[in-house]
Amino acid sequence: MRPKSRIPKDMMPKRTKIATLLADGKTGFDTTVMGWIRTFRNNQFIALNDGSTNQTLQVVVDFENTDPALLKQLTTGAGIACTGHIVASQGRGQTLEMKATAIQVFGECDPEVYPLQPKKHSLEFLREIAHLRFRTNTFGSVFRIRHHVAWAIHEFFHRRGFVYLHSPIVTGSDAEGAGEMFRVTTLDPVSPPMADGEVNWKEDFFGKATNLTVSGQLEAELGALALSEVYTFGPTFRAENSNTTRHLAEFWMIEPEVAFADLDDNMDLAEAMLKHIVKHVLEQCGDDLTFLEQRLLEEEKSKPQHERSTLALREKLQFCLDNDFARVTYTEAFDILRNSTPNKKKKFQFVLEEWGADLQSEHERYLVEKHFERPVILYNYPAKIKAFYMRLNDDKNTVAAMDILFPGIGEIVGGSQREERYDVLRGKMAEMDIPEEEMQWYLDTRKFGTVPHAGYGLGFERLILFVTGMTNIRDVIPFPRYPGYAAF
Ligand code: 4AD
Ligand code: MG
Repeated sequence: MRPKSRIPKDMMPKRTKIATLLADGKTGFDTTVMGWIRTFRNNQFIALNDGSTNQTLQVVVDFENTDPALLKQLTTGAGIACTGHIVASQGRGQTLEMKATAIQVFGECDPEVYPLQPKKHSLEFLREIAHLRFRTNTFGSVFRIRHHVAWAIHEFFHRRGFVYLHSPIVTGSDAEGAGEMFRVTTLDPVSPPMADGEVNWKEDFFGKATNLTVSGQLEAELGALALSEVYTFGPTFRAENSNTTRHLAEFWMIEPEVAFADLDDNMDLAEAMLKHIVKHVLEQCGDDLTFLEQRLLEEEKSKPQHERSTLALREKLQFCLDNDFARVTYTEAFDILRNSTPNKKKKFQFVLEEWGADLQSEHERYLVEKHFERPVILYNYPAKIKAFYMRLNDDKNTVAAMDILFPGIGEIVGGSQREERYDVLRGKMAEMDIPEEEMQWYLDTRKFGTVPHAGYGLGFERLILFVTGMTNIRDVIPFPRYPGYAAF
């Protein structure tokens, strides 16, 4: 075999994906595979990965009849094509392998400087080289599963007749109040009117002040009040200074909105959706789950026993499928928490005393992990701690809101039945100082043929954390954005 660093386009052989070869399990034919070398042992065994699976194909090189110059190019990270005969493998760890007859090197990879060595790297280190981390087993598995989850979500809503609605990313509406916003402007920060102090936004690109959206909900409501059932699936942006393992400045949200639905329907829909996704991943992502389950077990070995998960990854997913989520009102949950040992012994950072207090993640996790030991839907929250659009209950103190809390993560879904009564909604906006002029379009839907409706927002990355068993949200989105960081 002679070294070749480039293949002319018309000579590019058709390739077979490694996942297909391994799944078919057939032997006794010739084919071509392409991928990146994970390791090259004894000048003889290439472990080749092409990203179609976390498994590698063993390519056996006839080194005695191979040009030494080519052998030298076969290093970890090199991008190559191999043509050869697929045979049953004698070695352990694989059922079949390729006996190579031709190897072409697309791109060499200098092992002296290649950051990914064939050894275990920390997730923190890999985050710094996020452009290359796709090439590791962990991130290959995470991003294949992320794809499957997105697919399962579209499938779930499509099958139920929902319309996928694309809500805007740049918006002039700022009444949602879900979080701090990123301003969108083309004005020059050092020239008037920007540098003037008082900015005249009429001079800006859109003729008004605009931001990146924090949620597509309000637009989804407009769609639902004509199309009946819609969902959004897009990026959302929050400029909160939250440096946690569960917050991103740019994250993806799925927001279904359903006309003629109340809070119970909303909870039923969310639970069915989450179970559909988990079932899909269990059925479709076996290899990747096996790998991630093992990874998690290894990671947890360094933790004290009481901090380790009681269930392995797949057991945890199966448990979520097989059991009803607990449904508890805020008031019931508040009583449980107030009387709990950590509250009485002041072990919580935020000790709960007065009904109406917002629950912190320590409280949510106590409910899910210690008290109910299963996913929990909390509903009927105090009106004072929730958004203006949530429907006021007959008790006048609570709103028809719901949050879904998951073990290890906390809040994964937030939603509500919406206030459809024109006068009640206007009253609420006045109370919360939301200017009516800016929300005319929203109020119009209540003025013209209003109907009961409900919806929720699912944090996509938080769900990916749950199904992959990863523990930092920065490791389940390709290129995370958080305070002080927007590389790539
Ligand atoms: O609870 P939130 O703020 O709800 C809304 O935005 C509503 N408008 C949704 C609706 O009713 N249509 O956000 C919804 C979910 C949260 O439950 C959480 O899972 C996720 O979005 N989320 C974040 N995920 C990552 N990083 C952040 N900074 C997040 N903020 C919220
Ligand atoms: Mg919320």
